[in-house]
Amino acid sequence: MDRYLVFGHPVRHSKSPFIHTLFARQTQQELEYGLAEPAIDEFAQALRTFFDQGGKGCNVTVPFKEQAFTLVDRLSPRAKRAGAVNTIKLTDDGVLLGDNTDGAGLVADLKSHGVTLGDSRILLLGAGGAARGALAPLLAELPSELVIANRTHTKAQQLAAEFHDLGPVTAQTYEQLAGPFDLVINSTSASLQGELPSLAPALIHTDIAIYDMMYGASDTAFISWAKQHGARQTMDGLGMLVEQAAEAFTVWRGIRPGTKQVLRELKRNLGVI
Ligand code: ATR
Repeated sequence: MDRYLVFGHPVRHSKSPFIHTLFARQTQQELEYGLAEPAIDEFAQALRTFFDQGGKGCNVTVPFKEQAFTLVDRLSPRAKRAGAVNTIKLTDDGVLLGDNTDGAGLVADLKSHGVTLGDSRILLLGAGGAARGALAPLLAELPSELVIANRTHTKAQQLAAEFHDLGPVTAQTYEQLAGPFDLVINSTSASLQGELPSLAPALIHTDIAIYDMMYGASDTAFISWAKQHGARQTMDGLGMLVEQAAEAFTVWRGIRPGTKQVLRELKRNLGVI
């Protein structure tokens, strides 16, 4: 049976096996999908061993995405832009192809929620790996403006300069930000510590769409905060997780699974509904 898995550390709580198993069942593909949690300095060896032993493809998650970028034979254009690899496929001619489906997953999830990206003013919070992966797919949707704000402003400036050729992207400090924005995407890891990016409450209005790439069984700190200040449309990163997985599955198997039912089952599994 064709073998796939996700590399991460820690990875025990990953939902990827659950999601890909449902995709496989739905599309009648014969495959198994597991977990691998190598020591931080043993990822390269573990990756080589997996493919030497017949593995067909893998996902890569924190903290290995940047390292995976350096270990593959070839990079997709979107992985090159993201500077990170979350999906690896062994091609028929034996090449390890590195791809990145995170940004495509974000855009697919935003669209499935009916969020309009074209001609919109987007505020992206954070300038780490998650923000980098999102930038090219967001700019491809032709927003009128995309502003990056980050606690460490120089990182936002660097990122804006790097993606400037793809669209109207600028960096502003949290203090400089002037609304109205149509969509705010939180790519920071602040919610993990229950913290908030220092965004002025005045930037939240009833028609704004709020997206937090993080997720949990209950609202993230950022989503709770945005709701308190009047946001009516809030979304967490669970949909992005399923959509990036669907994109990876498509890369591997050449067949696109449906995501709606799988997302519903995942929510049930997590106790969200
Ligand atoms: P990831 O790959 O998830 O993006 P990362 O590369 O470590 O992780 O980046 C984390 C991002 O969250 C950064 O933009 C970080 O801001 P700094 O560049 O200033 O470190 C941001 N971040 C983390 N904790 C934060 C907090 N409490 N408030 C605001 N931003 C925070």
